[in-house]
Amino acid sequence: MLYGGDYNPDQWPERVWDEDVRLMQEAGVNLVSLGIFSWSRLEPAAAEYDFGWLDRVMDLLHAGGIAVDLATATASPPPWLSHKHPEMLPVLADGVRLSHGARQHYCPSSPVYRFATQHLVEQMAKRYAKHPALAMWHVGNEYGCHVPACYCDVSAAAFRSWLEERYGSIEDLNRAWGTDFWSQRYSGWEEVLPPRKTPTWPNPSQQLDFMRFSSDELLACYEVERSVLTEHSPGVPVTTNFMRFFKPLDYWKWAEREDVVSDDVYQDPADPEAGMRSAMAGDLMRSLGRGRPWVLMEQSPNRVNWRDVNVAKAPGQMRLWSYQAIAHGADGVMFFQWRQSRAGAEKFHSAMVPHGPVASSPTWRETRQLGQELRRLDPVCGSRVEAEVAIVLDWESWWALELPSKPSTRVEQVDQLEQYYRPVFAANVVADFVRPDHDLSGYKLVLVPNLYLVSDAGAASLVSFVRAGGALVMSFFSGVVDPFDHIRLGGYPAPFASMLGLRVVDWLPLSDDDHLTVSFPDGTQGRGDLWSELIETTGADVLATFSGGRLDKHPAVTRHKFGSGSAIYVGTRLDQPAMGRVLSSVFIDAEIEPAIDVPSGVEVVRRSVPRSSILFLLNHRDGAVDVPIAKAGTNLIDGHEVHAGLLRLGPYGAAVIREGW
Ligand code: GAL
Repeated sequence: MLYGGDYNPDQWPERVWDEDVRLMQEAGVNLVSLGIFSWSRLEPAAAEYDFGWLDRVMDLLHAGGIAVDLATATASPPPWLSHKHPEMLPVLADGVRLSHGARQHYCPSSPVYRFATQHLVEQMAKRYAKHPALAMWHVGNEYGCHVPACYCDVSAAAFRSWLEERYGSIEDLNRAWGTDFWSQRYSGWEEVLPPRKTPTWPNPSQQLDFMRFSSDELLACYEVERSVLTEHSPGVPVTTNFMRFFKPLDYWKWAEREDVVSDDVYQDPADPEAGMRSAMAGDLMRSLGRGRPWVLMEQSPNRVNWRDVNVAKAPGQMRLWSYQAIAHGADGVMFFQWRQSRAGAEKFHSAMVPHGPVASSPTWRETRQLGQELRRLDPVCGSRVEAEVAIVLDWESWWALELPSKPSTRVEQVDQLEQYYRPVFAANVVADFVRPDHDLSGYKLVLVPNLYLVSDAGAASLVSFVRAGGALVMSFFSGVVDPFDHIRLGGYPAPFASMLGLRVVDWLPLSDDDHLTVSFPDGTQGRGDLWSELIETTGADVLATFSGGRLDKHPAVTRHKFGSGSAIYVGTRLDQPAMGRVLSSVFIDAEIEPAIDVPSGVEVVRRSVPRSSILFLLNHRDGAVDVPIAKAGTNLIDGHEVHAGLLRLGPYGAAVIREGW
């Protein structure tokens, strides 16, 4: 089980390093992400390298039994590079060019940046490929975090080449972008631009292609580095750290190029739903790696520094959320960062080793305790989390859904994912994320929150899943456009109308202060907000109707038997109790159950190993709770036997029970 954090020894005099290693050993650290922002120290001037200090750190760590996730250091180019080549600095849609002085100040298409990173990484790879401390490569850092896209002339030329590759002819581009609208027809490639600041909305198909292009351009930067690394150190895993549900990068594509998926999760302790949100992120990371264990690359030991008010984690919360990441498939828990910086923009961000006296710091004590506990969790490594439910997330649809000039711009992808995930989490049902065109045959239930854009293949895959006996729940404003963001004609939602047994006659979005009553046949009522629509059934049964107003008695929720399966459609944003009711009845019908029944506020997830299984119990409440256990086992955290009966979990407590041992 990997344990450690970002290590920036170049911020400290060398005499501190010995203490670092001693404290790392005390805290059970076995891996550090080294030198993520060290470019200006490693290459103080063009092609002049200073690796002496890094050699010493690598050797020292190795001697101390600590492995290294060695960073390529390319996330923050040194000032000399952009001073000499200002054209490598990124430009915003309004033409403003960003300066150096923070980090990530590069245009992803810049040949200068790519050339410089390739040369630095070649030096690093040659020098450290055989170093015994090297365990993993950490390419860049949080790609796209500050600069997800660039609109400069270099980017414009790269965008044109990308488009030529995609469409072949300017005629096909005109067709794909629907340029007969507003006289946008292009007569030659040289006229085509990124969607820079325009008098009003730029062409939506152009914007969508620019998002695809920008994700691909950053991926190309990553690929420049990865190909150097795999050439010099074949077999050493390569990763770059993701940022949960990060819109600008199509992580499905990115994850295919990683040996290990890794993620940075910064829950807000002031958010009462933080636990639900990090569970959802964990499920996404596991799914991006197609079930392989992932690594929690960064979390904060305590406070961050970048919110307006940086609320501290409650005692035990960091430990709980660490176990939660492991429950959802992580085989490693890491932090930003090891030692709290003395200077710079992040000096108020917590670290494993705080500014003040170390021994008395509660943050240090909790990280040390966790590190010591995790030493006993090796039996968990490599085990899998099996899910019977899949939630559809497609980045292209997300991008298209949130482009402006829609019936409502309030429909947001992550909000809609959470609509579904909340009841899934509350019911302790484990879910994977999938793209619509993935193989869905292993799932009993597929949830489809607002799949606005869908390809023919994606639509066919969902329809075949239901036809073959699967259960599916889909919400409003799905199946509306094709991959060019052109309306799918023939009645909304054209590709799903026969599967759903209905037609949407008209969309009636709701203003912020408006809501509708939704009535179920047993007399219970729920609330719908954000969206409503006029639905005409063509075979579906009505599960709930709108009450009052112009949609009075019209369907709000429907179910249609299709082939050997069934498809539910939800025509509004239901409040949580109503959404919970709809999903719980689907869980019952599809025979989907939690690993064990637990009191509310307790999360339960099972990881499976051959011939055994490991049960994670996570108490998200700040009070103790008793959990009924049916199967005896051993709590790996403390080695104690767990008997059938009640197991007490303290506030934010966790148990990791190897069942049957
Ligand atoms: C991450 C980043 C780290 C550090 C951290 C602070 O986004 O990768 O370098 O800035 O945030 O929370």
